[in-house]
Amino acid sequence: MNIVIGITGASGAIYGIKLLEVLKSIPQIATHLVMSKYAVENIGIETDYSIGQVLGLADFTYDNDCLSARISSGSYITDATVIVPCSMKTLACISNGICDTLIARAADVALKESRKLIICPRETPLNSIHLENMLKLSRLGVKIIPPMPAYYNKPKTLDDIQNHQVMKICDCLGIANEIGHRWK
Ligand SMILES: Cc1cc2nc3c(=O)[nH]c(=O)nc-3n(C[C@H](O)[C@H](O)[C@H](O)COP(=O)(O)O)c2cc1C
Repeated sequence: MNIVIGITGASGAIYGIKLLEVLKSIPQIATHLVMSKYAVENIGIETDYSIGQVLGLADFTYDNDCLSARISSGSYITDATVIVPCSMKTLACISNGICDTLIARAADVALKESRKLIICPRETPLNSIHLENMLKLSRLGVKIIPPMPAYYNKPKTLDDIQNHQVMKICDCLGIANEIGHRWK
């Protein structure tokens, strides 16, 4: 599987990083990572990872300004695109067909080619523009998986909460996993 991972400047860069860590352990999956300028900023603010470490988790990496990258074209076959976390700005770009970054373009390609697109939008509170953008994409078949912690599994650490989110994304990708605690 070729999976595109976009990390944008919404809070929660760790979710994208943890997903990359899980996918790295699966030899049949190649990851294609794009980080926005503010994703890079937030990784420094919110996590103990260096940018080099995050880049090292992916099989292929691209600059968000590089619209000539192969994942910018529908002729390059990918199986899924995951934007985690997704800022309201990138969400708005995708729902309005504005493709001026590689992340937004890769999402647009996934939509036009009817490929799996998963978006993990993060903002609170949500205004009507945010909600309308999500609804528009949901109606096009996009999976909207916001990072919302569950409590039925009694999370004890941030790790537990992050793993649950990564489990939900992997479930949606069709990747068998026991990363989080499932309701029995
Ligand atoms: C520390 C920090 C946290 C942020 N958290 C969010 C957030 O949770 N959601 C959001 O939509 N934008 C958030 N932003 C603002 C985005 O980074 C900003 O809108 C940026 O232009 C998004 O561009 P991008 O989608 O290309 O990364 C945050 C910015 C910073 C510096």
